[in-house]
Amino acid sequence: MKVTAFNGSARMNGNTTILLNTVLEELREEGIETELVHLSELEIKGCTACYQCWNNKDQQCAVDNDDVNELVDKMVHSEGIILGSPTYFADITSEMKALVDRAGMVSKANEDMLKRKVGAAVVVARRAGSIHAFDSLNHFFFIGEMIVPGASYWNVGFGREIGEVAKDEEALGTMKTLGQNMAWLMKKIYSK
Ligand SMILES: Cc1cc2nc3c(=O)[nH]c(=O)nc-3n(C[C@H](O)[C@H](O)[C@H](O)COP(=O)(O)O)c2cc1C
Repeated sequence: MKVTAFNGSARMNGNTTILLNTVLEELREEGIETELVHLSELEIKGCTACYQCWNNKDQQCAVDNDDVNELVDKMVHSEGIILGSPTYFADITSEMKALVDRAGMVSKANEDMLKRKVGAAVVVARRAGSIHAFDSLNHFFFIGEMIVPGASYWNVGFGREIGEVAKDEEALGTMKTLGQNMAWLMKKIYSK
């Protein structure tokens, strides 16, 4: 069983990474393989609305001139998907939105190919807008027939400077609970 986490932050070692790693550590303790992918290292363009994925139905984006298909492939080969983003103007980053739009459309074009995988959203903010960003990410999971576990709070943390979120004890606790609940759910769904 594998969980792939996608980090939509522009800062590779920023607050979103800290929260994502906290969730992933719990998953690893439960024996689940994990991978963390930083969108900032990749090229991700927006959806061109060509709708060719609906004709091709090959679980890939028809516009194959950047790194999105590699990410779509990682989603297909994971039982769990975590989308993490800082809050930018009360929403997710543009790179994460591009991934959501393109992977989401490919999934719809292929009979909800991500259905019944386990999904979770993780968000960081300096002050406000995190719940809106959290909702944005959850739209991806729910329209794709994915299953979303809860935690002891919504999966958000606070911090502005790099590393500041590590002082948000409640957020770290929420991330640990999220990792445990995600592992529990994945074992229920995928263990034979
Ligand atoms: C372009 C931009 C927009 C931002 N908008 C918000 C916002 O709407 N609300 C907020 O609380 N923080 C906002 N922030 C602050 C970041 O969410 C915050 O610094 C966060 O910790 C960054 O996460 P990272 O370290 O993973 O990059 C913004 C930062 C940037 C660069």
